[in-house]
Parts: sequence; C-alpha cells; structure tokens
Amino acid sequence: MRDMKLCISLDLPSAKENLALVEQIKDDDVWLKVGLRSFIRDGKTFLEELKAINPNFKIFLDLKLYDIPNTMADAAEEIASFGLVDMFNVHASAGKRAMSEVMERIKDVPNKPLVIAVTALTSFDNDEFKAVYNEDISSKATKLAVDTYESGVDGVVCSAFESLDIKKNTSDEFITLCPGIRPFGEESGDQKRVADIAFSKENLVDFIVVGRPIYKSENPKEVVNNILKNI
Ligand code: C5P
Repeated sequence: MRDMKLCISLDLPSAKENLALVEQIKDDDVWLKVGLRSFIRDGKTFLEELKAINPNFKIFLDLKLYDIPNTMADAAEEIASFGLVDMFNVHASAGKRAMSEVMERIKDVPNKPLVIAVTALTSFDNDEFKAVYNEDISSKATKLAVDTYESGVDGVVCSAFESLDIKKNTSDEFITLCPGIRPFGEESGDQKRVADIAFSKENLVDFIVVGRPIYKSENPKEVVNNILKNI
C-alpha cells in the first residue's frame, strides 16, 4: 500500500510551546513543518533542537522561496548545507529557470532535501488570483504543477482535491503535500475546503499537513497516534 505521511505544523506562538508539543510525540514517525514565523524568530537553532529531541524526525522548512534564480539557488544551497532539513519549498511562479537552478545547485549535496513548489496560494479567491496572474486559478495551478515537474522539482503543495489531477498531468511519483486536512472531520477553522484521511488516501496524497487538530487538542499524542493508525 502507498505510504502516506503525516506532517505536523508547528504553528504555536513560541519555540518553547512548539518544543513541548514535539516532546509529547517524540517516538512517532512524523514530519515537522517549520514556517516563516518560527524560522525568522528561532532560526537554525530551533531545527537543531527538534532533531535533538529525536534525530529521526523529518523537517519540512516551509519558507516558500521566491526571488531571482541565483538568489533562490543561493538560499537553497544554504538550507541544504544545514544538514537538518529534509524538505523545503519554493514558489512555482518564480519560473522554470529558477526552479531548475535550485535543483541544479543542490544536486550533489549529501542527503539532498526534497524540494516542492507552491502552485497557487489558497488564500486567493479567483478574482484576486486573476488580478495577479490574468488566468483562472484551476487552469493556472495545473500549468504551474507541470512547470514544476518539468523543472525536476520533486512535487507540489496543493489541495487534496487537486492531488489526483496533478498526478495525472505529471507522474504518480510526483509528490503532493496537502494542507487543509481535518483527519476525522474536525472543526475546519478558517480553512475553506477540507479533506479527511480517507479522501486523502483515495486521492493518492503523499503528505497530509495537520496543525490545529493536533496542537489545539487536549491530548495531541492521542490524535497523532490515531492519525498514524489510519494512514
Ligand atoms: O491548522 P491547520 O491544520 O489548518 O494548518 C495548516 C497548515 O498548513 C498551516 O501551517 C498553514 O499555514 C498551512 N497552509 C495551509 N494552506 C495552504 C498552505 C499552507 O493551510 N494552502
């Protein structure tokens, strides 16, 4: 059976709270997502602290790089040289040349991180998106996924609702990482379209990203174990 992985968003307001959460699940086979806020505040030290809790944790550094190709490749090289990051992301709309340069620059790094690309930010509604890209979200997102694939990038960040279609237009091996997951149909908060574990499995999602249903729960360890049992 296909191996779906759980990636937990460490979106609590301080390093201390994030580390306390991670301590509770230190024996679990999970990925940890570190975003802009944490990384700007707590930096590489925070990544080291996570790996010190359990070196088997995988780290996804969610910084969504977007710049000129050489600057993105420089940043990618720095991230890869930490030796702490297992996956990071870029914006597909930075273009194929930028994505190819990133992949080229890190190709010989030992334990090369996986790289995925954001196609369309889901905070956009169609009108807002069109004002920037002059195209509808759905058609543009698929085109950006194909650009990503053709640039040698490992996968995309997308909605579970797009996962199958993206794989059809690229490859089964092309990674889909999907936020907006409510594993057992929990409260959706500000997420507009949410998918549960069963739906994610049917749509061949490779990584589910889950934040609030875990860190807002009374018993995060139990939620994580339930998710791991079901994926
Ligand atoms: O708490 P929740 O499970 O909704 O968190 C989802 C995580 O995924 C958050 O870190 C959020 O910023 C991120 N994310 C998202 N939707 C996207 C991209 C990222 O919810 N399209």
